[in-house]
Amino acid sequence: MIQFENVSKVYEHNGKELRAVDGVDISIEKGEIFGVIGFSGAGKSTLVRLVNLLEQPSGGNILVEEDDLSRLSKPGLRKMRKRIGMIFQHFNLLESKTVLHNVAFPLIISGTPKKKIKARVEEVLDFVGLSDKAHQYPEELSGGQKQRVGIARALVTSPDILLCDEATSALDPETTKSILQLLKRVRDEYNLTILMITHEMNAVREVCDRVAVMENGQVIEQGSIFELFSNPQHPTTKNFIQSVMESDIPPSILSGIEERGGGRHVYRVTFVREKAAQPIFSQVAKNYQVEVNVLFGQITELQGIPFGQLVVELLGEDREIVRALDYIQRTVSVQEVEADAG
Ligand SMILES: Nc1ncnc2c1ncn2[C@@H]1O[C@H](COP(=O)(O)OP(=O)(O)OP(=O)(O)O)[C@@H](O)[C@H]1O
Ligand SMILES: [Mg+2]
Repeated sequence: MIQFENVSKVYEHNGKELRAVDGVDISIEKGEIFGVIGFSGAGKSTLVRLVNLLEQPSGGNILVEEDDLSRLSKPGLRKMRKRIGMIFQHFNLLESKTVLHNVAFPLIISGTPKKKIKARVEEVLDFVGLSDKAHQYPEELSGGQKQRVGIARALVTSPDILLCDEATSALDPETTKSILQLLKRVRDEYNLTILMITHEMNAVREVCDRVAVMENGQVIEQGSIFELFSNPQHPTTKNFIQSVMESDIPPSILSGIEERGGGRHVYRVTFVREKAAQPIFSQVAKNYQVEVNVLFGQITELQGIPFGQLVVELLGEDREIVRALDYIQRTVSVQEVEADAG
């Protein structure tokens, strides 16, 4: 559906070349929610601007279905633009216009008959749950409601693709969740392909089917959410995943580790599917002079597959703990929990 083939974008800055996007290969299926995650400056927004035709690549090809974006004629470009909707971090609404007018805007400028506009706007406002706000102004809305207006406006032209650049980054966690659920509904009900740019692994975990991790313009790792969470390869990917796993641990437990202080051996153990951790720990207790104290445990689901983490404290002599850890690490993934992690 959207295919990046060795795509690059080079900017000139003070006579120096900056490769904002550097040899990117990504293939996104129709109806897929594909995430691109990376730290600031990784090249995510540049990648999106290449898809929504605001920028031309310096090298490589971008295909949307059978169309090569760089080979489109002017009318072809106009047609393509209608197939692509976009939502933004700061919503980009017209403050002096009502919700209704904001949502109608793309249809007004494309010369759609008034009657049709009215019917379509009512339909999408109903879809995002804002029918009762049609005559209010953006400043009278919450952030989440504003983003719903942004989504309605993006959907009003019935696009095939929705691009989201940090669409939830200005929202609190609860509102973020509801917007992400709405994006899922957009995909499920309209079979849209969604390209979601973010620096929040939580957002990726919540809705994406697959994700690419970007750094310095390059894709350093990509795969299904399950693959990345269960077996991350690159240190940056590991960092992103570690941060969400850590945020799942209740603060009271983290501060408890801190309070009781140094010399404690606390580890986070993540496991998938049948590699349940419990049998491993009973083996540890049997075969090593080590006691296992479970501080926290949870099992979540990633793409329908059980995915768990346990925070355990190992009690015993250092030498025995090292041996026990070596044994545990053969089956499941283990990270040390720093006392100051909270
Ligand atoms: N128009 C431009 N001219 C020159 N350099 C640019 C331009 N746009 C982006 N860059 C540079 O390209 C790199 C990637 O920028 P980009 O905005 O794509 O990053 P990003 O991953 O979206 O970051 P953020 O998370 O902060 O939004 C940065 O180093 C940026 O300074
Ligand atoms: Mg950006």
